[in-house]
Amino acid sequence: MQPEDAKNEAKKISDWIIDIRRELHKYPELMYEEVKTSALVRRELDKLGIQYHSPIAETGVLASIGNGKGPCVALRADMDALPIHEETDVPFRSKVDGKMHACGHDCHTAMLLGAARILKSKENDFNGTIKFLFQPAEEGGAGGKLMRDEGALENPDVERIFGLHVWPQMPTGQIGSREGTFLAATSFLDLTIKGVGGHAAVPHLTKDPVLTSAQIITNLQSIISRELDPLDSGVVSISAIHAGQAANVIPSEVKILGTIRSLTMEGLKKLQRRVKEICESVAKAHGCKAIIDYPGNDYPPTVNDGEMWQFAKNIGSEMLGKENVSELDAVMGGEDFAYYTEKVKGCFVVLGMNNPDIDATYSVHHPMFKADEDALHIGTALHTMFALQSLKELST
Ligand code: NI
Repeated sequence: MQPEDAKNEAKKISDWIIDIRRELHKYPELMYEEVKTSALVRRELDKLGIQYHSPIAETGVLASIGNGKGPCVALRADMDALPIHEETDVPFRSKVDGKMHACGHDCHTAMLLGAARILKSKENDFNGTIKFLFQPAEEGGAGGKLMRDEGALENPDVERIFGLHVWPQMPTGQIGSREGTFLAATSFLDLTIKGVGGHAAVPHLTKDPVLTSAQIITNLQSIISRELDPLDSGVVSISAIHAGQAANVIPSEVKILGTIRSLTMEGLKKLQRRVKEICESVAKAHGCKAIIDYPGNDYPPTVNDGEMWQFAKNIGSEMLGKENVSELDAVMGGEDFAYYTEKVKGCFVVLGMNNPDIDATYSVHHPMFKADEDALHIGTALHTMFALQSLKELST
């Protein structure tokens, strides 16, 4: 099969892919709660006669096709939604208040099912095994790590892995990625400043955590601007502050949330260390106490194998035209696809979804985010070719 054929095959089942995507879109589920989503994936795999292992990583599904011998490649989709209230006017908008597929993981799941359908129909034409990883909890829950730790990349051992992500910054019909580090190492920050509350008319009898927080937030800005090599990349963002209720009361504590990012794990650890030092020292200077936590999993950077990006680029160029495949800069977003590429060669590719005609211009994680469904069959075709072409190369 050639890239052009894969695109045509995928185009033929485009309505089916879109229907699945819309069904998923209507019923978004948050990390590790993907019960209906997982059931839908299994329902479709059953219909296609594809074997799978489930549950894995709590709500994940690990499907596979092929002869169980020879090389093995993996394709991955994430399934979880976000705690965002959808504000689009699409007829299939989220039916669950406060939850939305605002990162396109519904698209990812549907595209991968599309590839499973095409590849199953070609099962007699290739040598080897293709695994389909439908993983939970990409949005902070490190579902990819759990899938990996529960053996998704073993038995048979996966030699290559590919993942796709919808990309509203790029027009439909284009793809992009880069060699090496593509996405950042990320960490969440959870900070509590404890002081002594009291009447706001007698501030001298309090240890004011509000003023202390203001000092801390301001001081944290110097890490990136004064301590990081200007040619390196890093992020320290404070994104939520919760404290106090009344105009005349100094509260006893302030809760702060934020995120820290770097293009290396080493860089991330350094930023975490400096954030901790500054928070604790500034708090102490004001008679308060800072309690710092970096909750959950620190995601490693997503690092693409150079050869695998070249491979994906060749397929993309043949399928979409050379001019529609871009070398991108690294971005400070994070991805738990990183856990897979820590173990096996792989490439994470982004799929253009921007289409101003249908208002599909908003970034992911935005309540107005819309995906251009005309791009879905391209994702399916790319997955299909990534798998087939890899098995062909690895078999020789
Ligand atoms: Ni995402």
